[in-house]
Amino acid sequence: MNSGLLEKAVASALKIRENAYAPFSGFKVGAALITDDGEIYNGVNVENSSFGATVCAERNAIFSAVTAGRRRFSTIVIASDLDGKAVYPCGICCQVMADFNPDMRIVLVNSGTGAVEQDCTLKDIFPQNFEFKGDKE
Ligand code: THU
Repeated sequence: MNSGLLEKAVASALKIRENAYAPFSGFKVGAALITDDGEIYNGVNVENSSFGATVCAERNAIFSAVTAGRRRFSTIVIASDLDGKAVYPCGICCQVMADFNPDMRIVLVNSGTGAVEQDCTLKDIFPQNFEFKGDKE
Protein backbone atom coordinates (compact mmCIF):
# COMPACT_ATOMS: atom_id res chain seq x y z
CA MET A 1 0.00 0.00 0.00
CA ASN A 2 1.31 3.48 -0.72
CA SER A 3 2.30 5.49 2.33
CA GLY A 4 0.02 8.38 1.30
CA LEU A 5 -3.05 6.17 1.71
CA LEU A 6 -1.93 4.96 5.14
CA GLU A 7 -1.22 8.54 6.23
CA LYS A 8 -4.69 9.55 5.06
CA ALA A 9 -6.24 6.68 7.03
CA VAL A 10 -4.26 7.60 10.16
CA ALA A 11 -5.40 11.21 9.90
CA SER A 12 -9.02 10.17 9.39
CA ALA A 13 -8.97 7.76 12.37
CA LEU A 14 -7.66 10.56 14.59
CA LYS A 15 -10.20 13.06 13.28
CA ILE A 16 -13.22 10.77 13.37
CA ARG A 17 -12.39 9.76 16.95
CA GLU A 18 -13.68 13.15 18.04
CA ASN A 19 -17.18 11.94 17.08
CA ALA A 20 -17.06 8.93 19.41
CA TYR A 21 -20.00 8.74 21.79
CA ALA A 22 -18.49 7.54 25.05
CA PRO A 23 -20.33 9.25 27.94
CA PHE A 24 -19.96 6.20 30.21
CA SER A 25 -16.32 5.21 29.80
CA GLY A 26 -14.96 8.52 28.54
CA PHE A 27 -12.74 6.37 26.28
CA LYS A 28 -12.95 7.49 22.66
CA VAL A 29 -11.87 5.31 19.74
CA GLY A 30 -11.67 6.13 16.03
CA ALA A 31 -11.18 3.59 13.25
CA ALA A 32 -10.32 3.83 9.56
CA LEU A 33 -10.80 0.71 7.46
CA ILE A 34 -8.98 0.53 4.12
CA THR A 35 -10.51 -1.54 1.31
CA ASP A 36 -8.44 -3.50 -1.20
CA ASP A 37 -9.15 -0.83 -3.78
CA GLY A 38 -7.99 2.03 -1.55
CA GLU A 39 -11.18 3.44 -0.09
CA ILE A 40 -11.48 4.43 3.57
CA TYR A 41 -14.48 3.75 5.82
CA ASN A 42 -14.62 5.23 9.32
CA GLY A 43 -16.19 4.18 12.59
CA VAL A 44 -16.32 5.34 16.21
CA ASN A 45 -17.42 3.64 19.39
CA VAL A 46 -21.04 4.31 20.29
CA GLU A 47 -21.97 3.56 23.88
CA ASN A 48 -25.41 2.98 25.36
CA SER A 49 -26.98 3.16 28.80
CA SER A 50 -27.73 -0.54 28.34
CA PHE A 51 -23.99 -1.24 28.30
CA GLY A 52 -24.18 -4.43 26.21
CA ALA A 53 -25.62 -2.41 23.33
CA THR A 54 -22.32 -0.54 22.94
CA VAL A 55 -20.55 -1.07 19.60
CA CYS A 56 -16.79 -0.58 19.15
CA ALA A 57 -15.25 1.74 16.58
CA GLU A 58 -13.76 -1.15 14.60
CA ARG A 59 -17.06 -2.93 14.08
CA ASN A 60 -18.83 0.29 13.18
CA ALA A 61 -16.21 0.91 10.46
CA ILE A 62 -16.61 -2.62 9.10
CA PHE A 63 -20.41 -2.52 9.20
CA SER A 64 -20.42 0.83 7.43
CA ALA A 65 -18.18 -0.55 4.66
CA VAL A 66 -20.28 -3.70 4.30
CA THR A 67 -23.42 -1.55 4.16
CA ALA A 68 -21.81 0.31 1.25
CA GLY A 69 -21.21 -3.01 -0.53
CA ARG A 70 -17.51 -3.50 0.30
CA ARG A 71 -16.14 -6.80 1.64
CA ARG A 72 -12.44 -6.83 0.87
CA PHE A 73 -10.34 -5.06 3.48
CA SER A 74 -6.56 -4.85 3.76
CA THR A 75 -5.95 -2.69 6.84
CA ILE A 76 -7.61 -1.14 9.85
CA VAL A 77 -6.17 1.89 11.64
CA ILE A 78 -7.34 2.32 15.25
CA ALA A 79 -6.79 5.56 17.16
CA SER A 80 -7.06 5.66 20.95
CA ASP A 81 -5.25 6.64 24.12
CA LEU A 82 -5.72 4.69 27.33
CA ASP A 83 -3.26 5.79 30.02
CA GLY A 84 -0.89 6.98 27.31
CA LYS A 85 -1.12 3.89 25.11
CA ALA A 86 -3.12 2.90 22.05
CA VAL A 87 -5.26 -0.22 22.62
CA TYR A 88 -5.55 -3.45 20.67
CA PRO A 89 -8.99 -4.35 19.30
CA CYS A 90 -11.25 -6.49 21.50
CA GLY A 91 -11.93 -10.16 20.80
CA ILE A 92 -15.36 -9.57 19.28
CA CYS A 93 -13.91 -7.06 16.81
CA CYS A 94 -11.02 -9.43 15.99
CA GLN A 95 -13.55 -12.17 15.19
CA VAL A 96 -15.55 -9.82 12.96
CA MET A 97 -12.35 -8.77 11.15
CA ALA A 98 -11.28 -12.40 10.75
CA ASP A 99 -14.42 -13.32 8.83
CA PHE A 100 -13.43 -10.79 6.16
CA ASN A 101 -9.62 -11.07 6.26
CA PRO A 102 -7.73 -13.14 8.85
CA ASP A 103 -4.50 -11.52 7.63
CA MET A 104 -5.72 -7.96 7.99
CA ARG A 105 -3.05 -5.40 8.85
CA ILE A 106 -3.68 -3.62 12.15
CA VAL A 107 -2.16 -0.21 12.79
CA LEU A 108 -2.55 1.30 16.25
CA VAL A 109 -2.23 5.05 16.57
CA ASN A 110 -1.84 6.93 19.82
CA SER A 111 -4.44 9.68 19.70
CA GLY A 112 -2.49 11.68 22.28
CA THR A 113 0.71 11.89 20.25
CA GLY A 114 -0.53 10.98 16.76
CA ALA A 115 2.25 8.38 16.52
CA VAL A 116 1.87 4.86 15.11
CA GLU A 117 2.55 2.55 18.08
CA GLN A 118 1.95 -0.88 16.59
CA ASP A 119 1.88 -2.24 13.06
CA CYS A 120 0.99 -5.93 13.04
CA THR A 121 -1.48 -8.39 11.55
CA LEU A 122 -4.69 -9.86 12.91
CA LYS A 123 -2.99 -13.30 12.84
CA ASP A 124 -0.37 -11.99 15.30
CA ILE A 125 -2.94 -11.03 17.91
CA PHE A 126 -5.81 -13.42 17.11
CA PRO A 127 -4.31 -16.56 15.61
CA GLN A 128 -7.23 -18.95 16.12
CA ASN A 129 -10.42 -17.35 14.88
CA PHE A 130 -13.68 -19.26 14.91
CA GLU A 131 -14.66 -20.46 11.45
CA PHE A 132 -18.17 -21.58 10.68
CA LYS A 133 -18.11 -24.16 7.93
CA GLY A 134 -21.28 -23.02 6.25
CA ASP A 135 -21.56 -21.72 2.71
CA LYS A 136 -20.42 -18.13 2.55
CA GLU A 137 -22.35 -15.84 0.24
N1 THU B 1 -13.77 0.05 22.49
C1 THU B 1 -13.59 0.24 21.14
O1 THU B 1 -14.29 1.03 20.50
N2 THU B 1 -12.61 -0.45 20.53
C2 THU B 1 -11.73 -1.26 21.17
O2 THU B 1 -10.85 -1.80 20.52
C3 THU B 1 -11.85 -1.50 22.61
C4 THU B 1 -13.05 -0.93 23.25
C5 THU B 1 -14.77 0.89 23.17
C6 THU B 1 -16.03 0.23 23.59
C7 THU B 1 -16.47 1.13 24.73
O3 THU B 1 -17.17 2.24 24.20
C8 THU B 1 -15.18 1.64 25.32
O4 THU B 1 -14.18 1.39 24.35
C9 THU B 1 -14.79 1.00 26.64
O5 THU B 1 -14.83 -0.38 26.54
